[in-house]
Amino acid sequence: MLKTIKIRKPDDWHLHLRDGEILKPVLAETIKDFRRAIIMPNLSPPIVNTRDVLSYRTRILDALPQGVTFEPLMTIYLTDNSDHKDIIKGYRSGLISAVKLYPAGATTNSEAGVTDIEKIFPLLEKISNAGVPICIHGETSKDSIDIFDREAFFIEKTLDPLRNKIPGIKIILEHVTTKIGVDYVKAENENLAATITTHHLIINRNHIFAGGIRPHFYCLPIAKRESDRLALREAATSGNEKFFLGTDSAPHIDPLKENQCGCAGIFSATNTMSYLAHVFEEEDALKNLEKFTSINGAIFYNMPINKEFCVLNKHEHPIKFPDKIRVGKEFVTLFNPGFLSNWCTEGTI
Ligand code: NCD
Ligand code: ZN
Repeated sequence: MLKTIKIRKPDDWHLHLRDGEILKPVLAETIKDFRRAIIMPNLSPPIVNTRDVLSYRTRILDALPQGVTFEPLMTIYLTDNSDHKDIIKGYRSGLISAVKLYPAGATTNSEAGVTDIEKIFPLLEKISNAGVPICIHGETSKDSIDIFDREAFFIEKTLDPLRNKIPGIKIILEHVTTKIGVDYVKAENENLAATITTHHLIINRNHIFAGGIRPHFYCLPIAKRESDRLALREAATSGNEKFFLGTDSAPHIDPLKENQCGCAGIFSATNTMSYLAHVFEEEDALKNLEKFTSINGAIFYNMPINKEFCVLNKHEHPIKFPDKIRVGKEFVTLFNPGFLSNWCTEGTI
């Protein structure tokens, strides 16, 4: 063994588990390394109230192997017609940990999302007063805005006015991808934080088009410029408490990715911790890995830090992950950055 580090067991603050046949094999990958995860509600149809949450949560718990301690932290998908009383009741009872705001049309299964955020300001104010954190997909869905500018546009035209209108609002800018986003989060108050994915620390937009079109590097928000990737790396590895891991691990079966109109989403649950350790070591920041994966998010969400620990070993040989995992009759391709990491998690202690 070349090196060993021991960190608090990680949490994933943005995860897609899906539903039906795919749920169990996908969940099996996350529970190897993660103790809790914020579960995205963009099913088809979406999880829009506490009744939907209760039954989805039960399906997740039923899919867990016996004896595994994993806590799904549930969210409600906001629509134009969300009911603030139901949301507040769900939050107070501990059934939900946050709500998710998708601008309608911004990403996979977001058609039922919010069409005009100003219209739900009164609802956001009420749920914010009750302390409910708002996870935001921070991109405009306007087709007229260049896809690489949609995050910056959203921050200027929607997020900043929203935060000025409701000063106490607690927001997680999900999967931030730009230097503009990183700088905005750093400059603003402690009620604003951001998640960062593993893949946005590794790929930039060139990877999507390297030698041909690479559907397994296509996700939303789309990977941006190299200067953006470097800003994300600095934010994630610095230990800054406003940034924490949200893998956005988003499985789609291969025929839906390798398609004339392929779905957005990168599946990274299986090898995220291995590649993160590699990235943090490259930045000479292994000492901050635990903050990013296991501390900062829990503090922002006012949750206890996990008591369990996990060990990561750096082996002499690179770790080979499978190319794909099987889900029923189909396969889901795993995030493959094109290099190997020598880091491997060794389970919970
Ligand atoms: C996600 C999905 O597939 O549900 N896709 C993605 O590219 N990240 C949706 C999302 O989080 O935007
Ligand atoms: Zn997502």
